[in-house]
Amino acid sequence: MQVLVIGSGYVGLVAATCFAEAGHQVLGIDVDAAKVATLAKGESPIFEPGLDDLLTKHLTSGALRFTTDLQAGIAEADAAFICVGTPQSEDGSADMKYVLAVASQIGQAMALRGKDAKPLIVVDKSTVPVGTAARVHAEIAAHTDRAFEVVSNPEFLREGSAISDFLEPDRVVVGCRTDHAEAVMKGLYQPFLDRSGGKWFRMDPPSAELTKYAANAMLALRISFINEIANLAEAVGADVDHVKTAIGADHRIGPAFLNPGPGFGGSCFPKDLQALLKVGREYGQPMMTLATTVEANRHQKQVLLRKVKAHFHVKAGVPAPLKGRRFALWGLAFKANTDDIRESMALELIDGLVNLGAEVVVHDFAAMDAVRAKIGDKVRYAATPLEACEGADALLIATEWPDYKAADLETIAKALKARCLFDGRNLFRPEAMEAKGWTYHSLGRRTVEAK
Ligand SMILES: NC(=O)c1ccc[n+]([C@@H]2O[C@H](COP(=O)([O-])OP(=O)(O)OC[C@H]3O[C@@H](n4cnc5c(N)ncnc54)[C@H](O)[C@@H]3O)[C@@H](O)[C@H]2O)c1
Repeated sequence: MQVLVIGSGYVGLVAATCFAEAGHQVLGIDVDAAKVATLAKGESPIFEPGLDDLLTKHLTSGALRFTTDLQAGIAEADAAFICVGTPQSEDGSADMKYVLAVASQIGQAMALRGKDAKPLIVVDKSTVPVGTAARVHAEIAAHTDRAFEVVSNPEFLREGSAISDFLEPDRVVVGCRTDHAEAVMKGLYQPFLDRSGGKWFRMDPPSAELTKYAANAMLALRISFINEIANLAEAVGADVDHVKTAIGADHRIGPAFLNPGPGFGGSCFPKDLQALLKVGREYGQPMMTLATTVEANRHQKQVLLRKVKAHFHVKAGVPAPLKGRRFALWGLAFKANTDDIRESMALELIDGLVNLGAEVVVHDFAAMDAVRAKIGDKVRYAATPLEACEGADALLIATEWPDYKAADLETIAKALKARCLFDGRNLFRPEAMEAKGWTYHSLGRRTVEAK
């Protein structure tokens, strides 16, 4: 099949390369000419495991091409995927300007299609509020009398494992009104479902649109829930590792998304929750659990800073109480295996520490450039995890990169001024840290003080 993928970011680029891998002819489109030039050279502008190899493979095979010109492939396309951003507007709603701009461009380009061409399947893959398929339909229809159908096909990939998630999906959700649209979508996705044994869900477009928000809201809720249980576990002297394992063994609950952490971030959960809250307000349906989830997360994003302040006896009203202190911070991306720093808690932590007068030396395996571009010399950048620790009063861990868990803690201890670790990802067990003489703060387990 001939596929257009409009928007070459985390979602569009992965979709484009994976459709090429499934044997389709794909044209990736982006307004960002520099990004398109980088892609055309076979270089990925983002860090995503496995992406570089697929990109090279299919640029070479000719199955994948990139352009800035949306009109280039519209005449022959079977499907056009809209994968542009839907950032948060000031009022919390999803900003639809990029999606509607693409819809308008598609509408104008439709004149290039033959009058008797099969309907173009226009696919909303961006995360968009209920009713968007109808809005996109109206926007395109305003410019053309050629046949098309707008389909909702929300994306569930996770950054960091996006390629395998796309190639082997648990499920594919398609909101469409005709058998033709379903047949085109099945033609595109069947190779992936054959690999994974994943489920196919056909429904109406509004249900598909709501499914995406409901899925993200549920996952965010689980994270905030376990974070609250972790905070309580600490207060009452329980160990959250035991609690999460035992509740996760209940088949009605399951073990996924029950790891305490320093609050969720990233490009999806925070904005998608706000967008869903906004929709709830619009329709007079208060989303009370979601509002609380957002609030709980705001509180949780300060969890490491609260622990640092307590440990170093920071008192309110004292100017720059951490002046003269240096902190090593491991992890800047909002989670491991990505370079995405959107809504990353590490950035809030940096702000908090620097505002208290501290010096911060940071390390990350993929997100250093993104942070440098965003906050410049507010922090110092270390080439290695060990270098970040040289002369620091304590080490803080914000992202669960596997190489941090594998670090040689004895070497790290020699670089630090003191064996003091604030672990926002529970990478180690308190007993093991106690045996090695560390002061160890983690989430939902007892704090260990060096003797
Ligand atoms: N990132 C994720 O993990 C993820 C997962 C599921 C769903 N989503 C959703 O997918 C959508 C895209 O997210 P993303 O993270 O890929 O965003 P992104 O910001 O990484 O990429 C968006 C791309 O669209 C391009 N673009 C903007 N306007 C354009 C236009 N008129 N024509 C062509 N290209 C245009 C931008 O230049 C950019 O490269 C969002 O709605 C997001 O909520 C994201």
